[in-house]
Amino acid sequence: MRCRVCRDRAAVEVRRHNAAFCREHFVEHVHRQVERTIHEFDMIRPGERLLIGVSGGKDSLALWHILTALGHRADGVYLDLGISDYSDESLELTRSFASERGLSLEVVDIKESYGFTIPEAASRTHRTACSACGLSKRYALNEAAVRGGYDVLVMGHNLDDEAATLMSNVLNWNVGYLGRQRPVLPAKPGFVKKIKPLLRVAERETAAYAVLQGIDYEVAECPLVAGNSLNRLKEWMVELEHRSPGALSQFVGGFVRDGSALFEEESNVDLHACQRCGRPTTGEVCAFCRLQLRATEAR
Ligand code: FES
Ligand code: ZN
Ligand code: ZN
Repeated sequence: MRCRVCRDRAAVEVRRHNAAFCREHFVEHVHRQVERTIHEFDMIRPGERLLIGVSGGKDSLALWHILTALGHRADGVYLDLGISDYSDESLELTRSFASERGLSLEVVDIKESYGFTIPEAASRTHRTACSACGLSKRYALNEAAVRGGYDVLVMGHNLDDEAATLMSNVLNWNVGYLGRQRPVLPAKPGFVKKIKPLLRVAERETAAYAVLQGIDYEVAECPLVAGNSLNRLKEWMVELEHRSPGALSQFVGGFVRDGSALFEEESNVDLHACQRCGRPTTGEVCAFCRLQLRATEAR
């Protein structure tokens, strides 16, 4: 296999683009994909302050690296979820990544800030770890961005993640979520703008990118992920892409272009301030506060 650009030996094949690239041109290709996405959806405006949620995994570290290479200065925030060695190791890798590149990193320990770890929340509320984790991440990352006066929260969701989430929302006909599944969620009172610049980059490509750029990332999977239904869907999505290259970008790209607007109204719900934390919610007390109350209740 030869590189599409320079005809040298290829290092990575991208079947959905019917192309292969050498190391240098693969890196360029990924940068171009991200730049195009940022531009097409007008994700970043001049002067906006960016905060990226980093987990120590390949996607978020690769994205932090890419943004920096594209000239966007972003600070990082790492949430320590209290998942034993996995969290300690991921934090260590994130810290070294940031310090080697002179990037600024805030660490939020959710036990210190909110009174519970993810395993505690899961066992005390009988939710799956991943659902307690997802809810806590969304809340704590937005909190960190608001507190730090940032304009944009950057998320490392890749094409496979978006495809699996979309499939899950379709399988459950979760119309409210479908209306909110967009590459850019504009800011509204209490929430900073949220963007997903890796929308066009598949997971195997972020992995290849990280390896080729010498990024040391957490390879182990979260130990709590076993049996997670979204993860299972992601495996199916990878299989689908393998059998039919291009299927995922068509699925996600088509939805973003033509589908999500159809559900927009469904996501326009009346919000008012949570009685406990003041953040916008549809109920009296927001879902995160309810989780926190149950997870920290005296037993
Ligand atoms: Fe969230 Fe594992 S990282 S449950
Ligand atoms: Zn080349
Ligand atoms: Zn609340």
